Amino acid sequence: MCGIIGISSNKSVSANIVNSLKKLEYRGYDSVGLATLSDGVINEVKSEGRVNSLEQNFDIKNLKGNIGIGHVRWATHGVPNSINAHPHSSHNVSVVHNGIIENSTILKKFLINKGHNFKSQTDTEVIVHLITENLKTLELEEAITKTLKQLHGSFALGIVFKDIPDLIVGARRGSPLAVGYGPNENYLGSDSYALKAMTNKITYLDEGEFCLVKKDQVLFFNEEGKKINKKILELSSNEANYDKGDFKHFMAKEIEEQPTTIKTCIKEYVDSLNKDINILNFPWKINEIKSITLIGCGTAYHSCLLAKYWFEELTTLDVTIDIASEFRYRKNRFKKDALYIFVSQSGETADTYAALDLCNKNKMKTCSIVNVIESSIARDSNFVLPIHCGPEIGVASTKAFLGQILVLYILILKLSSLRNEIDIKLYHKKLKDLISLPSLVEKTLPHDNDIQAISPTFNEAKGSMFLGRGFSYPIALEGALKLKELSYVHAEGYPAGEMKHGPLALIEEGMPVVVLAPRDDYYKKTISNMQEVIARGAKVLLITNKSKDEVVSENIWETIEVENTNNDLLPFLLTIPLQKLAYYSALKKGYDIDKPRNLAKSVTVE
Ligand code: AGP
Repeated sequence: MCGIIGISSNKSVSANIVNSLKKLEYRGYDSVGLATLSDGVINEVKSEGRVNSLEQNFDIKNLKGNIGIGHVRWATHGVPNSINAHPHSSHNVSVVHNGIIENSTILKKFLINKGHNFKSQTDTEVIVHLITENLKTLELEEAITKTLKQLHGSFALGIVFKDIPDLIVGARRGSPLAVGYGPNENYLGSDSYALKAMTNKITYLDEGEFCLVKKDQVLFFNEEGKKINKKILELSSNEANYDKGDFKHFMAKEIEEQPTTIKTCIKEYVDSLNKDINILNFPWKINEIKSITLIGCGTAYHSCLLAKYWFEELTTLDVTIDIASEFRYRKNRFKKDALYIFVSQSGETADTYAALDLCNKNKMKTCSIVNVIESSIARDSNFVLPIHCGPEIGVASTKAFLGQILVLYILILKLSSLRNEIDIKLYHKKLKDLISLPSLVEKTLPHDNDIQAISPTFNEAKGSMFLGRGFSYPIALEGALKLKELSYVHAEGYPAGEMKHGPLALIEEGMPVVVLAPRDDYYKKTISNMQEVIARGAKVLLITNKSKDEVVSENIWETIEVENTNNDLLPFLLTIPLQKLAYYSALKKGYDIDKPRNLAKSVTVE
């Protein structure tokens, strides 16, 4: 959460800072600010709202300075307003911060006693005054080292100094930060996405490190303040992918491009000639793995939940799934023969990273399934399986969800084959079906008119329910999450068989209920559960797959039929109408689809 940019150049930086902040907006968009340094003065401008409100309120282009820092905020301490927006400045130091300072109350007391005045409600302001305080007695590098040690919690920082005209200090603990290298200028950024328009030469800071960024030189230090050398990575850049094209929203584009993204991913992993799956350089012997633990947050957690069903269907491995924020604080019994799999689109989610870190510290086998291959989670895992779906900009995850479940399915099939738990003919048949998945997804996409007509019912109701059994249950959870986050209406995902144990009491005349009932092993049971909600007045939207047999039930409000395929692959197809339902519901309400309120794409605070 929150995005940071810093530029040290031989020319004016304000326009490029604003451009980078626009790219970083997916990390936070409740307030924004920047500070440049010119003629020994810190010029600070801040606004509530988005980057365009900053542009409207200030004459940014004429803001002088060849060095500057900028920030988009997702509020943790203090309401989102222009006072709490970053940068925060003392008379000689200005700071942008992503993270949370856990001991800010104690530090604030200490600093007030020393005579420092605070203007905001943020935890960040203590960092500013702490540096100012430490600079009274220490040289720059010592003051930074000491300050970072005094801070508890997580941070990525960008710092400029009134009296040091060409320097930005960057520091990282728990929140990501990268340095970029350009011609006669260097940069600091929360991620490579913000920097890619300016450079593809990047160095990532590791835990505890800090750096001094000047226009013609970058120096790195470890947490003890000792100089270190770091590698420069060259990233492949494809700016075209970041464009909305003809679509109104990134989310619409990302839904529609799913046939292509999953096709690309299948090509990366499936060798259709040899009818096998290529998972190269897998670092462990197959008999070293006796159990699997899958960990993620939000949509990524739903991917883990679905994977558990596939694992149980196709292997005899013990499988546990966990929400990262729960896993990281539990008394886990770490098992040497377990493989810990971390699922994350961004690869920067703080809770997922902390869970991975915990496993690494306990010397566990760690594997990550990520979209951003330069991310912290990817870099710190023993083994990485990318989902190859290209940048996902919409805050609501769509193509990354399909990418995650696709890679999980591929991994499970491969493990099943390596463990001799699947008949070779069936393995080949499943691979063949998998190769046809992109075209089935393509055929499932055009339900827009039906869904547009249905969506107002979901918006107008007090709430809605999404029901499914077996493989369809995680998809029901995902459908409900999408509707909540985009349309701000209450929606609940439930295992259809659980309704009579409580939630059935919620059903009343006209309540919209989505029932996911593909013709799989659970079909008849789900249809019975559907009849129970219809009998109590629910308006049922049935989502099933095409079949020659009619659905035997009366009073179904609406039906959407997805394409037919083997049972394993139906979850991919069932997901599509649910993504569209959330999209069109939010569109009808006129909400900001790519940036729903209170959320951010990359959740880098716990
Ligand atoms: C999904 O639509 C969400 N916005 C959210 O649940 C997301 O999946 C979660 O925050 C995890 O993010 P990650 O995949 O980047 O780790």
